[in-house]
Amino acid sequence: MKITTAENDIQEILYSEETIKARVVELAKQLSVDYNGLDPLFVCVLKGASFFYADLCRLMSCRIFMDFIAVSSYESNAKSTGVVRIIKDLDKNITGKHVLIVEDIIDTGLTLAYLKDLLGARKPASVKTISLLQKDIPRPREIHPDYLGFRMGSQFVVGYGLDYSDYYRNLPYIGILKPETYS
Ligand code: PRP
Repeated sequence: MKITTAENDIQEILYSEETIKARVVELAKQLSVDYNGLDPLFVCVLKGASFFYADLCRLMSCRIFMDFIAVSSYESNAKSTGVVRIIKDLDKNITGKHVLIVEDIIDTGLTLAYLKDLLGARKPASVKTISLLQKDIPRPREIHPDYLGFRMGSQFVVGYGLDYSDYYRNLPYIGILKPETYS
């Protein structure tokens, strides 16, 4: 029987499990200082950010609240339009709360820009953003997350929550797919 493993489809590991862990520890330390005493609400943008979010939250030393939002971007000819549909909204009102939106990757930046505007309009005390990855590419509207894990190239990456056709999210590292996997 041929055994198919996700690892066989990976060409190169870009960020190892250890490298990711070390950076998430640093980010959590910084956030624990910055949000100490503020009881912030950390918002996970499903599904891609789920691994980063879980690791980040469990490393926080100050009190936090947790909530989840799921969005889907409308695409036209496989290009993101910047219009985002809410599939699952937050459970609770965020008025007066210190909100941190937790993303896995900024590609075009349209999702994070949309979410920042959306949640910002609900009158939180503050709304900031963190992304594990940001692609170093030109974008129509530049976006600067308040906290960033790694600035990367323009490669298509999977693992640690990131997917290709919903596969590979469970890889413990972030890697580049072999071209033949998606051609
Ligand atoms: C991915 C990723 C970000 C968004 C970034 O989500 O998790 O949310 O795309 O792209 P952008 O900067 O071009 O807007 P996706 O819509 O693929 O859903 P998923 O998180 O469920 O994988």
